[in-house]
Amino acid sequence: MKLVLGTAQLGMNYGIMGSKKIICSEFLKIQKTAIDSKIKYIDTAIDYGDSEKILGKSKLKNLKIITKIKISNKIKSSDLESFIFNQIKLSMKKLNVNMLYGLLIHDFKNLKNKRQHLIVRSLEKLKQQKKINKIGISLYETSEIKKILKSWTPDIIQIPINVLDQRWLSGNLISRLKKKKIQIFSRSCFLQGLLVSDIKNKKVPKKLNELIYKFKKWCEKKKISRLEACIHFIKNVSGVDFVVIGINSNNHLNEIIKVFKKKKKNFLIRNFSTPKKKIIDPRYWN
Ligand SMILES: NC(=O)c1ccc[n+]([C@@H]2O[C@H](COP(=O)([O-])OP(=O)(O)OC[C@H]3O[C@@H](n4cnc5c(N)ncnc54)[C@H](OP(=O)(O)O)[C@@H]3O)[C@@H](O)[C@H]2O)c1
Repeated sequence: MKLVLGTAQLGMNYGIMGSKKIICSEFLKIQKTAIDSKIKYIDTAIDYGDSEKILGKSKLKNLKIITKIKISNKIKSSDLESFIFNQIKLSMKKLNVNMLYGLLIHDFKNLKNKRQHLIVRSLEKLKQQKKINKIGISLYETSEIKKILKSWTPDIIQIPINVLDQRWLSGNLISRLKKKKIQIFSRSCFLQGLLVSDIKNKKVPKKLNELIYKFKKWCEKKKISRLEACIHFIKNVSGVDFVVIGINSNNHLNEIIKVFKKKKKNFLIRNFSTPKKKIIDPRYWN
């Protein structure tokens, strides 16, 4: 399992904790730590403010970059291919690269109204043109991949997995996806920071704060930090190839790398998870 540096916080203020955009001096420290600790993968998106531009001016552009594209349903089907090609051309110019390791569709809703095959065909062409190595999609719910697999097997999917959100761990779904040679990228290991923060967030459902409190008490009893518990949890999820982590300081990154390098503690915490998306899916929070 490998770490992937998430860069939403690099390009914009981000998340329910109201994380401020990372300042340049801090980014230079993060860049050095990432390179020194041999992080090889970067997660970004066209939608992450000027994240791509900042990465393109940095040494991190030489790493394996995964970016994401949003394709509004307002774009006519006949214009889809040229829209996608232009967006990727712009992205690669900002990122200052000749090839992307991965390109993900950022939003499942973009595939609606029979546009999946048109969009996938355009991405496949970019792959044949060796502009992209792998194509895929970023998802939230397991129902989405079941619909997609009826006519397309992506190379990569990015999915939320953490102590509270174990929807993708049910029914050996991940091992079935692995059999299809799909690379699994997990994100939200810290649920946008809520799982490792001491601040009770009033913007999230009461039930979520109750679960976070129980998790906190469990960690105290186990004499383990919540950061360690979150990282050891994801390391115990077999089939996950990459873990996309969000940070907003070089200290955050150093702490994560230190724990990630440790020998995995075998525990898969089940007692705090809930399938209720209104509780664990950030799209439903205020
Ligand atoms: N739909 C999508 O494709 C999608 C959606 C969400 C995220 N992403 C990607 O995933 C990345 C991660 O975002 P996420 O939402 O999944 O975040 P996450 O990794 O679950 O949490 C990141 C937050 O955890 C806190 N944190 C991290 N390290 C810490 C440490 N050592 N000590 C204390 N707190 C720490 C920070 O919160 P504070 O800022 O509060 O300190 C940080 O902002 C994003 O940058 C983006 O690349 C993609």
